Amino acid sequence: MDLIPAPSSAVRRPGEDFPLDATTTLTAPPGLADAERWLRGTLSAATGLPLAPGRPGAGIELVLDDTLAAEAYRITVRPGHALLTAGGPAGALWAAQTLRQLLGPDAYRRSPLRREAWVLPGADIADAPRFGWRGALLDVARHFLPKSDVLRFVDLLAAHKLNVLHLHLTDDQGWRIEIKRYPRLTGRGAWRERSMVGYRAGQRRDDRPHGGYYTQDDLREIVAYAAARGITVVPEVDLPGHTQAAVAAYPELGNTDVVDTAALGVWTDWGVSHHVLNASEETLRFFEGVLEEVLEVFPSEFVHLGGDECPKEQWKDSAAAQARIRELGLANEDELQSHLIRHFDRWLAERGRRLIGWDEILEGGLAIATAPQGAPEAGAPVSGAERPAAWGRSRAAVSSWRGFGGGIAAAKAGHDVVMCPEQHVYFDHRQADGPDEPIPVGFVRTLEDVYRFEPVPEQLDEAAARHVIGTQANLWSEFMDSARDIDYRAFPRLVAFAEVAWSELPARPAERDYPGFERRLRAHLEVLDALGVEYRPVDGPHPWQRRPGVVGRPIEGPPPVR
Ligand code: ACM
Repeated sequence: MDLIPAPSSAVRRPGEDFPLDATTTLTAPPGLADAERWLRGTLSAATGLPLAPGRPGAGIELVLDDTLAAEAYRITVRPGHALLTAGGPAGALWAAQTLRQLLGPDAYRRSPLRREAWVLPGADIADAPRFGWRGALLDVARHFLPKSDVLRFVDLLAAHKLNVLHLHLTDDQGWRIEIKRYPRLTGRGAWRERSMVGYRAGQRRDDRPHGGYYTQDDLREIVAYAAARGITVVPEVDLPGHTQAAVAAYPELGNTDVVDTAALGVWTDWGVSHHVLNASEETLRFFEGVLEEVLEVFPSEFVHLGGDECPKEQWKDSAAAQARIRELGLANEDELQSHLIRHFDRWLAERGRRLIGWDEILEGGLAIATAPQGAPEAGAPVSGAERPAAWGRSRAAVSSWRGFGGGIAAAKAGHDVVMCPEQHVYFDHRQADGPDEPIPVGFVRTLEDVYRFEPVPEQLDEAAARHVIGTQANLWSEFMDSARDIDYRAFPRLVAFAEVAWSELPARPAERDYPGFERRLRAHLEVLDALGVEYRPVDGPHPWQRRPGVVGRPIEGPPPVR
């Protein structure tokens, strides 16, 4: 049956096939309406069969079994009856995805090709994911991705049972989320005059304005569309670095005593800008206002506040920042950053949310969200039932990107971790060595490397390993300005990644059956073809996928061992 990601168990029952026809029904209890709607919409479009509502015990039937975990499911296919039993709505959606796979690649098209028999193979399948966070990051800040392409990407994630879309919404090069009380964030911050083409050393510019942003209703639509497919959208508003677009829109957010921030535009270079936020109370209030609107749009438990790569030069030079450090009793600029992160850690916790940030949020101390300044307990260890929950131990989580180290430290300290080390799962990095890879950056990370990526480092004992709540592949978009480029860098590696995140593969990379995966992938490429995904062919890029002469920034040699 060649299912990808590989299920926990799958047994083929020859002679027990279920041919579908115009009388085949589809039935589900009210709690599984999303899966029922998705199955009917998707399979009716592909097969031309109506899949009308029917009665229990026949046709395609979804049922709930709350003894199963929420994302777990079983499928039994027998003549005249395909029973999909799910632990919860998410499990039903994954079962529905598997059912579509059982019908073959043409079930992924949006119209029937021809009149043909649609047959579900007789089978017994039992399945559940390894990790609860199976994510992909889309950087829609460096290059704006039109809403329709984001929705398409959601469908591609769902087809691979990935369940978190991390949307990187703001950066030096663009602000992409409408904030009603601060209209200049998008009015000015959502576009730049031109872009670098390739990396700095190539000295190429396109002299073409770039921009775009999502209205709050666009984002609500994306969130709801994703939720109906089992996917949580986690928004990222990056601070206090990666904020030149915000400073360009509202110069008072910057370090006005060291630079003329009123003269700043949205950054037209790639890299890390030195124009970071100031750390004033007014700036905290401004971003509380931003986040109030973010929380209205995104119901996710986690809100990503970045925290990565914040150059400290401007704070070192700024009399205001230095005064702030003294006023708060902090040791240095790292602690000033930590103060900002803790502030929003507490602020989010008070609103029932959790902060997640890149592993730099560990620097300067993350472990405890202390009581607010002036509160009786300030400075004291904060735990105890009588204190507001938000003053207790920080429940912030860490996206471990600079390797495994941050994630290991965080997990040992009791923080949840999403493993996304750049040496392994940054899918902007090149897929092969050689001159044909378009705008080659980073390490060579082949399909096989990704298949052999193990998110839980062996240095963690069992208790700490439980804090690795999942893993994520990140698609930074400096060198991807369209869905076609994203397809190329994401696929087929995201297929291998999905199996790493979902399936119980041998922990030792060397013991993984890569040839077996490659064989199943060959069939799965027909699925990607049916979906219209412009993946990287196994033998190298199509001519139109190359970018001759555009300079990247490859890193030679293998990535450091973890
Ligand atoms: C990152 O790649 N700066 C999180």
